[in-house]
Amino acid sequence: MKKTYMITGLNIILAVCLVFLLFVYEGPKQSQPVSAKGSETASASDGNAADIVGKNCITCHGDQLQGGAGPALTKIGSKYDQSEIENIIKNGKNGMPAGVISGDDVNIVAKWLSEKK
Ligand code: HEC
Repeated sequence: MKKTYMITGLNIILAVCLVFLLFVYEGPKQSQPVSAKGSETASASDGNAADIVGKNCITCHGDQLQGGAGPALTKIGSKYDQSEIENIIKNGKNGMPAGVISGDDVNIVAKWLSEKK
């Protein structure tokens, strides 16, 4: 009788372990695509400017700068020159918040974007 209880207890523990393991193994599997996506954006970037934009601008302008909450920036260089883009980044523009990035980052990004024509 005591033995049966022990076996039942063991089974319950085993079952709990199994469920736990399933959840634990589900974790890395689910996070893998996310990290893969992260490295993909990093490898698709051409240097520092793309990195800065990738971290600060794509939430509104889209991961390929194709637009989203903000307008597309894929051909922004044919609309504005570097100093005009610097101005927009520094001072904002309507829905575009001012000072998303600052310092040298502004010049680097404005130059990079002004070359997108
Ligand atoms: C919170 C959302 C948001 C973020 C973050 C953001 N923007 Fe914008 N951006 C906007 C919106 C909205 C507009 C449209 C403003 C308007 O109505 O003219 C805009 C407009 C612009 C424009 C002018 C586009 C045009 O065609 O007139 C440029 C250039 C620009 N953003 C660059 C950037 C850069 C570079 C970053 C990152 C450093 C950035 N934005 C981050 C929302 C954002």
